[in-house]
Amino acid sequence: MSGAVRTRLGPVDQIPLGEGRAFLVGDEPVAVFRPRSGGLHALRATCPHRGGPLADGLVDADLVMCPLHNHQFRLATGECVSGGGVDDVAAYTATDEDGELVVSLVARRAGCTLVPSDELLLQATAFADAVSAPAAGDDLSAPVPTCGDWTVRDLAAHLGRVHRRVTATIETGADQMLDRDADVPDGVPPDSRDEVATWLLRGAAALAGTFRASGPDRQVGGFGRPTTVAWWERRQLHETLVHRLDAELAVGLEPLADVAPELAVDGIAEWYDLLTDFRSGSRRVRGSGETIHLHVTDAPDGEWLIRRGPEGVTITREHVKADVAVRGRAVDLLAVVTGRAELGHVEVFGDPAVAQDWFRVSALG
Ligand code: FES
Repeated sequence: MSGAVRTRLGPVDQIPLGEGRAFLVGDEPVAVFRPRSGGLHALRATCPHRGGPLADGLVDADLVMCPLHNHQFRLATGECVSGGGVDDVAAYTATDEDGELVVSLVARRAGCTLVPSDELLLQATAFADAVSAPAAGDDLSAPVPTCGDWTVRDLAAHLGRVHRRVTATIETGADQMLDRDADVPDGVPPDSRDEVATWLLRGAAALAGTFRASGPDRQVGGFGRPTTVAWWERRQLHETLVHRLDAELAVGLEPLADVAPELAVDGIAEWYDLLTDFRSGSRRVRGSGETIHLHVTDAPDGEWLIRRGPEGVTITREHVKADVAVRGRAVDLLAVVTGRAELGHVEVFGDPAVAQDWFRVSALG
């Protein structure tokens, strides 16, 4: 895979627990931290206050304190939490791959305000990382248990082609999304695994570039009817996020490890927006008055009430007692809602059969 995106930096244990170390990744000085509580984090190594060496700072579970004037930055996002008008610092992705330190130089943002194109690139990078994992197999033939009989290669080909179909839909002014078999530029993945990862990132970067160049309000072709570029931007972000989850489950990586809960909440919301827009009255999702309450425990606004009536389903964002309540971390709930995980991954209060049936009929494959 391209060294510009992912760089291998030697053994993880060259960084003592509870400390940071500085590396040069291309031209970028990067500080990688290994908190005692676990995990790896990477930030731009130069303090935005007056250039102090962040890699030499004091590290706790969530923060690093610059050794020069004690400004503090979140390890996960680079957000400056000590005030004083000091800028945030760029945060990158650092992972432990079988004891080897790998840094991805796609910047994460401080704070959690979603910028869909940026998030799309982050999720595509994580997807490509999973495709590059040894467990995917040299020929990418590892099965993807959450996607029927697909292999990792099938999944990568699907996601790379979806990105290109949406790019071509917008760029050609088609009145609806180009169909599955459409002849799109660069639409066939290469044979070699490393080239597949680069091909995926090339397609995601082109898509993000098309979104930015088009502007959010432009009318374009959607699923059988016109939509906006902003709709596609959100749709493709979550398409990429959920397939990243598939790929990580397939190769044994911890799923969605660095995903902000707010992003997963938006993933659930978008999933249910699709359901209510396109099939709220379908026989499959109708019911006889059952109610299901979903509650995310690690982010605000993560509550839904689902009412399955004989005429169709309604989904509202509210906290109301229901036949069954399902609670969990946002990423775990996203996995359950999208049919990627069983109910055992979350807490269930009330009749589990009601929840089970809802997730069965509402997971769109
Ligand atoms: S240089 Fe880092 S706090 Fe001043």
